Amino acid sequence: MKVYISGKMRGMTEEESRSKFKEAELHLKALGCEVVNPWDSEDDKKRQCKEWDDYILYDLQLLRKCDAIFMLDNWQDSNGAKCEHAFAAGRGMEIIYENQRFRSIPKPILDACCGGKMFYFDKHDKRVLFQDIRRISTKLCDGRPFEIEPDIIGDFTNMQFPDNSFRMVVFDPPHLLRNIGKSKFADIYGSLNPKAQPKGWQHTKYGALGQSDWKDYLRAGFAECFRVLQPNGFLIFKWNDTDIKVSKILELTPYKPIFGHISGKRANTHWICFMKDEKSEWKIKATNE
Ligand SMILES: C[S@@+](CC[C@H](N)C(=O)[O-])C[C@H]1O[C@@H](n2cnc3c(N)ncnc32)[C@H](O)[C@@H]1O
Repeated sequence: MKVYISGKMRGMTEEESRSKFKEAELHLKALGCEVVNPWDSEDDKKRQCKEWDDYILYDLQLLRKCDAIFMLDNWQDSNGAKCEHAFAAGRGMEIIYENQRFRSIPKPILDACCGGKMFYFDKHDKRVLFQDIRRISTKLCDGRPFEIEPDIIGDFTNMQFPDNSFRMVVFDPPHLLRNIGKSKFADIYGSLNPKAQPKGWQHTKYGALGQSDWKDYLRAGFAECFRVLQPNGFLIFKWNDTDIKVSKILELTPYKPIFGHISGKRANTHWICFMKDEKSEWKIKATNE
């Protein structure tokens, strides 16, 4: 799908406007769309256009060749964007608003919190939409570079995708608590000692859960992953039970896992597969403790 981005280009700094358009461009490209960003033709427009109406006619020609228009949330402050919106509506084009959930998702797999994509054979696998709440590029304590480079920034407790979008969802959320008695750091330093907190490279790589809200956080994450999964689609869940036992985590979703894998007594890593089957016999009762 070819999408034209529309929004405010004047009346704010050029840098500010360009960065809003760029952010939308990257977002739409990550979803597999071909994107027309009118800022990319600015030099050409400056050569060809004298008046405001020349500019708008130029942009309408670009828009005419697209299937959909993406309205940035500031579009109503721009006469140009209002013209483009009316033109797109008149032609019956799909209109996507920045603050609305996406209707068509072209990739079959979502990784809801991809982190450094450490378990991927290809970190740029085109079938996967990589999401994380952070984008970072840093060095770990041993000097190795570490990057979190998702296609889109998003929150697995409140995702922007419509229901039933993906054939597979991968969910490998943070598994370390910020400061808890059972952490191996707590064994070394004593619980509640700040040194027991997963920080340094562990925090950088995996993020961490809040002590008081981890159940609600992961319960919301599971609910969102199942919401965006198609019926009969698969959820692949990974958990490391250094701080919290996997049995406690499985209580946070009514879906019953199909099979799981414990990689070794020392490694504490579990790979678990669920299917989104709405039949109640495949569901278990979630506890609300
Ligand atoms: C255990 S790591 C994922 C590791 C990854 N699977 C890999 O192979 O490297 C957990 C990731 O969840 C991300 N995260 C934490 N809270 C999130 C949220 N609400 N939404 C999306 N990502 C989140 C963290 O930034 C972190 O990168």
